[in-house]
Amino acid sequence: MSDTEFTGFKTSLLEEAEGEGLNPTTNPTMGEVIAARFSRRGFLQGSLAISAIAATVGSTALLTANKAAAQSGSRFSFEEIEAGVDETHHVAPGYDADILLRWGDPLFADAPEFDPNAQSAEKQRRQFGYNNDYVGFVPFDGSHQHGLLVVNHEYTNEHLMFPEIVTIVDGKAKVAPADRNRVDIEMAAHGGTIVEIRKQNGKWQVVKDGALNRRITATTEMELTGPAAGHDRLKTQADATGRAVIGTLNNCAGGVTPWGTYVMAEENFHGYFLGELPEGHPEAANYKRYGVPDGAYEWGNFYDRYDVSKEPNEPNRFGWVVEVDVQDQSSTPKKRTALGRFKHEGAESIVAPNGQVVFYLGDDERFDYVYKFVTAGTFDPDDRAANMDLLDEGTLYVARFDADGTMAWLPLTFGEGPLTADNGFESQADVLIETRGAADLLGATKMDRPEDIQPNATNGRVYVMLTNNTKRTDEQLNAANPRAKNAFGHIVEIAEADGDFAATNGTWEILLKCGDPSVAEVGASFSTETSKNGWFGMPDNCHVDAAGRLWVATDGNSPGATGRTDGIWAVDTDGDARATSKLFFRVPVGAEMCGPLVLEDMETMFVAVQHPADGGDDWDGFGRPSYYEDLSTRWPDFDDAMPVRPSVVVITRQGGGKIAS
Ligand code: FEO
Ligand code: CA
Ligand code: CA
Repeated sequence: MSDTEFTGFKTSLLEEAEGEGLNPTTNPTMGEVIAARFSRRGFLQGSLAISAIAATVGSTALLTANKAAAQSGSRFSFEEIEAGVDETHHVAPGYDADILLRWGDPLFADAPEFDPNAQSAEKQRRQFGYNNDYVGFVPFDGSHQHGLLVVNHEYTNEHLMFPEIVTIVDGKAKVAPADRNRVDIEMAAHGGTIVEIRKQNGKWQVVKDGALNRRITATTEMELTGPAAGHDRLKTQADATGRAVIGTLNNCAGGVTPWGTYVMAEENFHGYFLGELPEGHPEAANYKRYGVPDGAYEWGNFYDRYDVSKEPNEPNRFGWVVEVDVQDQSSTPKKRTALGRFKHEGAESIVAPNGQVVFYLGDDERFDYVYKFVTAGTFDPDDRAANMDLLDEGTLYVARFDADGTMAWLPLTFGEGPLTADNGFESQADVLIETRGAADLLGATKMDRPEDIQPNATNGRVYVMLTNNTKRTDEQLNAANPRAKNAFGHIVEIAEADGDFAATNGTWEILLKCGDPSVAEVGASFSTETSKNGWFGMPDNCHVDAAGRLWVATDGNSPGATGRTDGIWAVDTDGDARATSKLFFRVPVGAEMCGPLVLEDMETMFVAVQHPADGGDDWDGFGRPSYYEDLSTRWPDFDDAMPVRPSVVVITRQGGGKIAS
């Protein structure tokens, strides 16, 4: 260990949600209820437990459970890798893990090569952005060899990106104040990338002259649509319409819709605002509930709209789900207000039996909620144009998980229940702008940081990643969040009633309580088949592949926390292997694992390695701040002239074939 004290960089801490949580309500704490549920549930294992719940809710769920019970052994076939920490990535034997796209890589035929010492916003707008998170694929004509890769660029880490801005003063790392040029580069490195890729001779390549290649950034013009669009609370000095917004921020996970558009979720938008609201401003309570302003970024020193003292309504224009028509390079991305405003993690979707489309949405904050949106209209697979505004009309629901293993989806509809003028809501626009406040009134269940949520078409269930919540006390336990000081997170499995994803009720149970199962106090619930490499903490992103298998990506494993880096774990959900987990891929030190995506033909997996070298964990003697000049790894180039670079990695089986089959 060096004697340098590492206190963390502001933009790193933003992602960690290092607060107490912002939910002031006393929504079900029910310590006594949990006792009832877990004295019973704790002794029931695997399929027995599923059947016990299914029996209470009807025959369809029971059938699903029985089908699951018939599965024997793990559905994943690969040789597990060893958990650990070093400066590079690792994948299971027999697989290639190739770098496809790095921060700064040119995305257009005429885009400049990356030069870290001569970066500019103009160049960055033509290059792959920073901190790749969600990865999606829009195939050309159903191809698994050729299509558009869509990638979110969640945020920027200045201390890793820019030379000569970090100094060590009195044992602490200090970042030099930003100048306008740095802020402009940061804005250009946010947003998303749409880029054509093609598989040739078994290897994926970027097509730099792809006609649909595009960068979306924090300065791309966007349109607000849906019930809140045009509302006075969305109007600013620059936009009297309340419909025209510049840019998108902190795009974490996302989705590709059944009609082939790219959906970007705006997560920690509060970090971009600074200043103080004018005294007595009507948005004060709203902003408090969302943690606005936070001041992690200095953009407000150069652009008034990020300073709430000068442009108090601007934060209401962020925290939405953004939809992009990737088939039209000049299309205006749309912020779909019908899906609510919160710290949106992702927006994965599935078509319900009647054609309505259901989007699952997490609000990533300690003690915040799980949501879903059900379109009013139905999906038409033969008429793309008819689907293009499906996201403007529908019902947003928030989840209440009850102690008896049932759950209810509560509608956030103006005029229903408490969502009336008596409680300050004058319209559906108010309900959507203050989604959190509306959900508080409905008595939603306070969760341990809801992250990615994935529906599984093959078993009719839904997987909810709950990353952790060390602030939960014994008095704040509820059935769906049963651990106090939950350091390692858990996964909740929902079975929608009658297998209908549009249903307003269902059942649930905990698939997995994460952490080291060999430490009894942790209370982890991995199966006994899970090896010392196979357990993990902090589930974050996830993916259900075409065979219905669950892949989990993590955020927060480190030498200090779990003795391992983040990675991709394959988690069995069915039969006697339920809750068995195996390590398939791991990231370099300091990185978080994002993506993942397995293409429909199961022959390609894309994963996103986010913020490698961030943090100061002591591995191999590296117990000091990691920054541009003194990095814990220079992955993936390992070139002293190059900084560490977040990158998308493509995983294929050597000699071809399906992943883990
Ligand atoms: Fe951006 Fe909730 O992870
Ligand atoms: Ca995430
Ligand atoms: Ca994350």
